[in-house]
Amino acid sequence: MKQLENIALLRGDGIGPEVVEQAVKVLKAVSKKYDLKLQFQEGLIGAIAIDETGDPFPKATQALCEQAEAILLGAVGDPKFDNNPDAKVRPEQGLLRMRKSLGLFTNIRPTVMYAELADFSPLKKERLEGVDLIIYRELTSGIYFGEKSTAEDGNSAQDVCYYEVSEIERIAHLAFQAAQKRRKKLCLVDKANVLESSRLWRRVVQRIAPQYGDVEVSYMFVDNAAMQLIVWPAQFDVMLTSNMFGDILSDAASVLSGSMGLLPSASIGAENFLFEPIHGSYPQAAGKDIANPMATILSGAMLLRQFDLDAAATDIEQAVHRCIQEGFVTQDLNKEQFLGTSGVGDKIVELLR
Ligand code: IPM
Ligand code: MG
Repeated sequence: MKQLENIALLRGDGIGPEVVEQAVKVLKAVSKKYDLKLQFQEGLIGAIAIDETGDPFPKATQALCEQAEAILLGAVGDPKFDNNPDAKVRPEQGLLRMRKSLGLFTNIRPTVMYAELADFSPLKKERLEGVDLIIYRELTSGIYFGEKSTAEDGNSAQDVCYYEVSEIERIAHLAFQAAQKRRKKLCLVDKANVLESSRLWRRVVQRIAPQYGDVEVSYMFVDNAAMQLIVWPAQFDVMLTSNMFGDILSDAASVLSGSMGLLPSASIGAENFLFEPIHGSYPQAAGKDIANPMATILSGAMLLRQFDLDAAATDIEQAVHRCIQEGFVTQDLNKEQFLGTSGVGDKIVELLR
């Protein structure tokens, strides 16, 4: 019996608690089928953690995450903080501090296409053919974490984009290894025509590339990459990029499939692994049983795969796919005939058996 006895469960804000609930339901069902022992420990993060402790990433949660074999997160964010640039504490700080303190340096965001949902994509069908890409986004450095300051007179502010060679190397190796297992193409996305830090990325990637001779490497400026994601997304296999560019491009890539509610992600560190849907806390839908739980359920599958539980992971992915094929979906994917958040979770459990 394979055991994962310490999975940290951070439900977070908005729809987070509901979608995490469905993922737990599915993980428990799959654990019976495959004789796994999964145990979950709850922790606070985000706005709810601010409300209860004053801190979006409390010490207790940090300790829980450090000891956990894996972390499953819902979402963080609450509109009551969004429109106040002077707010001293924000839910998102919890997420950023978690990434940094756990050293989750690589964020992996796959774009999976479901033929049945082509009509939901903002792109024409013929542009979607063959789309299967994965973004490797650096997550603990760059402009997000460089020195930042606002002048005392309030008339200027700065955020420094700082990268060290070792920070680029460690994610580049993971991206090359991923490419080797896929279609063997890696595209480094940067702004090397303007930014010194981007030129460092190019140098590092060029130096590493010969170690992965079977991978074809290309380079693209980020403005062009944003356009290419729309006009010809099928050209990409693995896209490797810095923190901020990855943030922007992964949102763009996420809608190719038709719904953000479908896409899982993994964040990998030296010792910790975090899995979360790429969508946000969607506060307008909180508590209404309408949010799509599939992205979180698929994040659960990514979690299992991280521990080589491939059969169980594939089982979940296939059950989700069958739900989509057979129309057991939330209203974001079918306005006329739909199930609720928990209804979709139940259906996926049923299809596992
Ligand atoms: C993401 C989000 C976060 C980010 C926010 C909530 C801080 O947009 O995970 O992509 O910018 O990294
Ligand atoms: Mg983002």
